[in-house]
Amino acid sequence: MIVCGIETSCDETSVAIYDSKQNKFYSLVSSQVDIHSKFGGVVPEIASRNHALNVMPLFLDVLKMAGLTKEDINLIGVTKSPGLIGALFVGVSFAKGLAFGLKKPLVGVNHLFAHIVSAEIENDVKPPYLGVVISGGHTHIYLVDECYNLKLLSKTIDDAVGETFDKIAKFAGLPYPGGPFIEELAKSGDETAVLLPIGLKGEADFSFSGLKTHVINTITSNKFKLEDVAASFQRVVVDTLALKIDHALKRTGVDVIVVSGGVACNNYIRENLPKKLDRNCYFPSKKLCTDNGDMVAYAAYLLYRKRKFLSKFESALDVDEY
Ligand code: KG4
Ligand code: ZN
Repeated sequence: MIVCGIETSCDETSVAIYDSKQNKFYSLVSSQVDIHSKFGGVVPEIASRNHALNVMPLFLDVLKMAGLTKEDINLIGVTKSPGLIGALFVGVSFAKGLAFGLKKPLVGVNHLFAHIVSAEIENDVKPPYLGVVISGGHTHIYLVDECYNLKLLSKTIDDAVGETFDKIAKFAGLPYPGGPFIEELAKSGDETAVLLPIGLKGEADFSFSGLKTHVINTITSNKFKLEDVAASFQRVVVDTLALKIDHALKRTGVDVIVVSGGVACNNYIRENLPKKLDRNCYFPSKKLCTDNGDMVAYAAYLLYRKRKFLSKFESALDVDEY
């Protein structure tokens, strides 16, 4: 099957082709980071306009890369939510037009589901597992069962972990998005220098706003080197993630963990989270941690196969046929 995946939920436009027979991906991403960094964050209207400019050229280029024509496509997948409404609208409209014109099925994909299953693309891992999404907008732990049904076990009640990285970085005068800059700074810091709190310690859900305020107050106090604050912050992020994941492991009895989303690019987290948990975690490669069309194409393929299987039992999934 040849699957086309389209991702426009935030500030990356990405189109990918997944050839399921060969298990090969062809993918292109057009990042708007340089445009939005001038504003210190994503400007939704600018993001939508750039998606509208980028999506068609990317689609044509990725087809060329794969040596295919649009008629070769068997299935189209597109991120339908969550995300910036105008940005999603561009991808969904493009995908609907494509599906209508080619008379091919279209699958609307949940962005978080795509992030979770992205860990399967390069790793030999299949559900049941815990799907931990750590991104700019989300900090969620899901139980993913054998049939790819998702059960939400933990979520943040305030800031997402990536948002916390970005807000602290902004306060420290670092560029947007701040995550990679905090990581760089922390490399030369002492992670035991600053004592920082873990939010909602005894509960399943996450809270990062107290940690964020504590870090900002510590920076304002000028008592510690910025490198030490950054390193201590990252250590508490890992401690927090490990605590909640451990709780979810005990609750579900599942012992396989996949960790994905933009913050999963962080090397300190990639190295130290498995150590802290004393078990392996499956991470996608870094290029698949940030937003990409590959994960959307792969997720659409999984959902379509599931729908084909379930249709025998008259179950309705979110699939539109044209
Ligand atoms: O998944 P993603 O590309 O977009 C969303 O769906 O949110 O994640 C973007 C987030 C930003 O908050 C960014 O600062 C964070 O991922 N991020 C990092 C690193 N690289 C990206 N956070 C910590 N360390 C990094 N190396
Ligand atoms: Zn994302």
